[in-house]
This record gives sequence, C-alpha cells and structure tokens, in this order.
Amino acid sequence: MPVLLTCLLQFMLATALSQDDYVRPAAKPDINPRDWDSKNFWFGWRKWRKDADEPEQVHITHVKPGQVSVTWIVPSRTKTKSVVMYSTEPEKYSNEATGVSETYGYTISYKSGRIHHVTLGDKKRLLPDTTYYYRVGDPNSKISKELSFKTLPSQGPDVPLKFVVIGDLGQTEWSQSTLGHISKTEYDMVILAGDLSYADRYQPRWDTWGRLVEPVFSRAPFMSVEGNHEIETLAFNLPTPFTAYNARYPMPFRESGSDSNLYYSFEAAGAHVLMLGSYTEYHPGSPQYKWLEEDLSQVDRSKTPWLIAVFHAPWYNSNFAHQGEGDLMKAAMEGLLYSARVDIVFSGHVHAYERFDRVFEDKADKCGPVYIVVGDGGNREGLATKYLDPQPSISLRREASFGYGAFELANSTHAVWRWHRNQDEVTVTSDEVWLQSLARPGSPCGALVT
Ligand SMILES: [Fe+2]
Repeated sequence: MPVLLTCLLQFMLATALSQDDYVRPAAKPDINPRDWDSKNFWFGWRKWRKDADEPEQVHITHVKPGQVSVTWIVPSRTKTKSVVMYSTEPEKYSNEATGVSETYGYTISYKSGRIHHVTLGDKKRLLPDTTYYYRVGDPNSKISKELSFKTLPSQGPDVPLKFVVIGDLGQTEWSQSTLGHISKTEYDMVILAGDLSYADRYQPRWDTWGRLVEPVFSRAPFMSVEGNHEIETLAFNLPTPFTAYNARYPMPFRESGSDSNLYYSFEAAGAHVLMLGSYTEYHPGSPQYKWLEEDLSQVDRSKTPWLIAVFHAPWYNSNFAHQGEGDLMKAAMEGLLYSARVDIVFSGHVHAYERFDRVFEDKADKCGPVYIVVGDGGNREGLATKYLDPQPSISLRREASFGYGAFELANSTHAVWRWHRNQDEVTVTSDEVWLQSLARPGSPCGALVT
C-alpha cells in the first residue's frame, strides 16, 4: 500500500510539473499606461520640465567591427551639441566624438524630443572586447551620468559570442522582469525581433520605454527589426509608417548595402546576421529580396560560419495566435534561406515560446534552419495560450510563458540556444539545445566554406 501511495504521489507530482499543466501567471498591466492628460504629451510642456535638458534613453548600436553608434534623447528639443566623451578608464574621457540630432513630428499634436546620434570609432576603431566608459550630451549644457559598454569581441570564426534574443517586449511588469533577468547576466549583444515599445501611436510611450530599457541597451549593442507595432499609421498610410521607429532606432543598413532601416545585415564574431522586414515588400524582385540575394552571395562561411536570420512574423508557429501571418513571406523567401544554409531563425509576434526542428517546406530537414519563436518578452496583450492540437511533429517545444533566450556561439562549429522563463531563477534554463553549424567541415548539407 505505501508503495502504491508513493507511486501515485510521484505520478501526481510529475503531472503537476509537466509543461502542459504548468499554471501560467496572467498578463500584467502597463507600467506606463496611456494618459492623455499627461504633462509629457502636450507639445511645448517639456520645455519647462526640470530635467528637460537631461540626456536620457541612451542606447548603443553596432555599426561595424570597431564602430558603434550612440543614440539618446533630450526632451526639451533644445538644439544642443551631440557629443560623446569616452575612454577605457572611468572618469577620464580622453576621446570625444560629435554627431547630429533630429526631431520628428507625429500628426499635428506631437513633436519628439531632440534625438542625438554619434558614431564612435569612425576615425580610430574601438578596441575589441573592451569596456568603454562614456557620458553623452553637450558639455556646455547638460551631460549624462557615466555609463559603460563593452565592445564586441574581434571578428573570427571561432570567437565565442553571446546574443540575448527577445521579442515583443513592451513595458509591463513582465517586461521589467525580462530586463531584470537579462541585466543579471553577461551578454555581448541584444537582438529584439520586433514589437518594441507598444507605444501604439501614443508617442510619449516611446520615451517611457526608452527609459525602461536604457540600463540593458546602453551596456552592449542593441539590434532590432521592426514589428507590426512599429508601423503606427492612422489612415491611408499616414503618418509615414515607422516614423518613430526609424528616428529613434536607426540601424546600420547602409553598411550592408541596404537602402532601408527595415532590413539589413551585420557581422559579429563568427556570425552573419540577417535582419529582415516582415512589413515591407519581400516578394521576388522587390528591393528587399534583391538586397537579400546580394547579401547572401557575399557571405563567406569560412569567416562567419554561423548564419542567423531574424524577422518578426514567424514562418513556423503551432499557436492559434497569428496563424499563417508569415506565410506570404515564407513562400517568397524560404528557398533563399534554405539554399544559403541559414542555421537558425528567430521571430516574435506570437506571445509565447516555441522551438522547431530543422525545417524546410513544413517538413523536418537536416539542412534547414532551426526556427525559434520568442515573442514572450512581456507586453500588455498577454500570453498566447492556445495551441494547435496535436502538436506538429516538427514543433519540439512550446510553452506560453514570459521569458527571453540566449544564443551562444562556442566556436565555429558549435553553439547553444537556451530559453529562460521569467518565473524561474536566472540560473534555471527551461529549454536548451546544442547546434552544429551547417557550414562545419563534414556537414551533410554540402561544402559551404568558400
Ligand atoms: Fe507583433
């Protein structure tokens, strides 16, 4: 009898802990709700704020090896200088770089603060894998407190690198939880697979979001693609789509031959990363398609053995939410990514976590990319909890919980993907898989090293 009872208890415990029966906490409301009476909203008010000339919302973006851009906003819009003072030693600032600033308008009621952009490493490249201490602003007006960031390690096929990957972040207590977990870890770069602030046309929420993410995005390069929440049109494609996103989060598109901030690529350590646009043209013959063909033709897998793609609306998704929304882009571009032997694809949009097998044209294929959906950053719309039943055989793990992931390159042949659930300790990994690069020597997918 005691044996039976023990077995029964063990069965009940195992059932209780299985991922299907896990009781997920509910969505949490925004920490920065819309407030049409907000003194932040009405144009002109910001000029008289006590901290109106203080630089805020600082973040770093990778431009190319040895070069980063620093962006920040001064709420008052006063046309001050764009200066970054920096050095490898705290409080020394032996280097200075200057840049440009801009503002943007959104309908007749809103004008942004002054957005400053400065590139570091333009004349003399920054040292790799080095911590720089910096302050931003105008020395004749207001400058920020000291911040620091670490540059990427040098380029090389075997150089280790850790990408943090998040999607659909928003600005709720869950977003705070995600950022809090990330800030307790070491990372080289943050990639956001679209849907950043959930400002949803209410422009002051871009500012509250910028302040929320500053501690994480000012420490290491932040790279993003656009999601549907960045479009922000009202009617007849007006105001211009992506107005706030393009002004506040410019990405290094020109460096990869792209003519749009909505798609570009960059290289980091041993990875070539394709940042693709789900909400701009992607059909064969379109500017993005032609750019992607050209970009892929220049990838040298002997230098960047890892080929990664990021876009917002997933091509593979077994959740009811947003089912099929990535199908047109998939039909247009899946062949290109497959032929190029992309190793892994990250998407968001669906507010849950899902990891697929290596896939091509809906079937497991050892030469296709691993597809990951990581749209579980923490936004106010809540989790997508309903899944197709039965679970498709190519879907290897799915769970509707808030969290983030990290893709860590160990060397030219091996990398590990780990997903972390926010309710757990940072040290707990909820899903983990090791991958081998499709470009490795002896790969069954053809000799790709050029
Ligand atoms: Fe989305």
